[in-house]
Amino acid sequence: MNPTELPEWQALVQRRRALDDIRIAELFDDDPRRTERFTFEAASLVADLSRNLLDAGTLQALVALARSAGLEQQRDQLLAGAPVNVTEGRPAWHTALRSPPADPLWAHRLAAERERFLEFAEQLRAGSVTGTVGLPLDTVVCIGIGGSDLGPRLVTEALGPVSRPRVRFAANLDPADLDRALAGANPHTTLLLSISKSFSTLETVENLQAALHWLKARGPDLDPTRHLVAVTSQPARATAFGIDPTRVFTFPEWVGGRYSLWSACGLGIAIAHGRLAFTELLEGAAQLDAHFAHAPLQANLPVLLGMLGVWYVNFWNAHSRAVIPYAHRLRRLPSYLQQLEMESLGKRVDRAGAPLAIDTAPVVWGEVGTNAQHSVFQFLHQGTGWVPLDILTVAQNRTGVERRLRLLNEFARAQADALAWGDELLGPGARPPHAVAPGNRPSTLISLPQLDARAIGALLALYEHRTFVQSVIWNINAFDQWGVEIGKQLLARRTQDAGG
Ligand code: F6P
Repeated sequence: MNPTELPEWQALVQRRRALDDIRIAELFDDDPRRTERFTFEAASLVADLSRNLLDAGTLQALVALARSAGLEQQRDQLLAGAPVNVTEGRPAWHTALRSPPADPLWAHRLAAERERFLEFAEQLRAGSVTGTVGLPLDTVVCIGIGGSDLGPRLVTEALGPVSRPRVRFAANLDPADLDRALAGANPHTTLLLSISKSFSTLETVENLQAALHWLKARGPDLDPTRHLVAVTSQPARATAFGIDPTRVFTFPEWVGGRYSLWSACGLGIAIAHGRLAFTELLEGAAQLDAHFAHAPLQANLPVLLGMLGVWYVNFWNAHSRAVIPYAHRLRRLPSYLQQLEMESLGKRVDRAGAPLAIDTAPVVWGEVGTNAQHSVFQFLHQGTGWVPLDILTVAQNRTGVERRLRLLNEFARAQADALAWGDELLGPGARPPHAVAPGNRPSTLISLPQLDARAIGALLALYEHRTFVQSVIWNINAFDQWGVEIGKQLLARRTQDAGG
């Protein structure tokens, strides 16, 4: 399917030509109820699309394109566990980890493994998991990279600070990362948590070896098996490495790395924040799954956000997008979305292997607000081009007693307004060219009711499905990542040639 051959795509080409002079300010002048008409809710999240280069007719035309591209059928296949990952011949059934699948066998197996790792987390939190000398383990060092790190690390931090057990993360091959994670830890009370779907990623294996060496160097009498846990889709490799089989937690091959935090890969989240928080995280995602599955396309938030992204990439040539979370605990969201979106959508051939004639993934970047106001917002307000933004806020901050939290939300809205209306918001009167902010720069305001597990689960599921929607329109496989193999194979050859 070449989307440009669809009549609905051609209709959007025509619409785009007619919208060359579209002004966000005028769209509001023409429709006093614009904010209401362009605000959508899903699983307690509220998204205000009104400050976009988008009129009602275009939104409908984008929905028509989604329908004509077969989005509903492909969504149903994704959610039913069909083999949508065509190059690896398997499902991408991450939703089954939080929305129990109809298949009773899988429903039972997934629930049983979830119970096993949540029980382990609760035992560790209760001080019942002890090391070689009988001391409770109170420091957990999670060793993983990519999807085995970014999601667990983001959620662990987003749910707030935890003093005990301490859960730390190390990903980079650069020893500085693991050194930092191990600094000050007592080997007798430290647990090494290896997270690797393949149990063969070089960075993770090397860091695990180095962490074991750190343990043994400081506790010659330590029994490493008392200080090791693994999460992987390859349990045989973990036990061959010497990890106690009862300390190996698994998840199915059909869970992609960047979609895996809902599985045992999220063990670090459960250790830091407990069974209830992890369960609420899953429930929030499940609520968003249900919305995605059943909401009509014209009110379906992942569809609307995904199609808005298609509108900007393919009809406005906007080849980057930025995510600005006005919540310090969400500061890692841009990095997480870089992998989710650029590893899913950074593809140049379609699902049949034919080269694409259209652009796909934009560059995803971002910075936490308000820090971004002192770095990239100059570019965003007065640069030669514009970048569509997602600006995220926490609604609860509006009413908080803490003045800085209230100001945080006011800043977010002020920035979105300034991007849309420009310096004219400061009132009439000519300004020197260097002080002019032209405005007409789009942003979408996404609000979480509060920064808790349920809202975070819904938010991350929203972005997962937004990503899938775009893959359907672009007719690409969102669930493989062959491009990352090249570096791995080159390194393997070079280390082999150099005698390893
Ligand atoms: O970046 C490639 C990749 O395979 C990611 O998709 C994955 O999340 C990461 O490497 C780590 O892989 P593993 O979990 O197998 O160690």
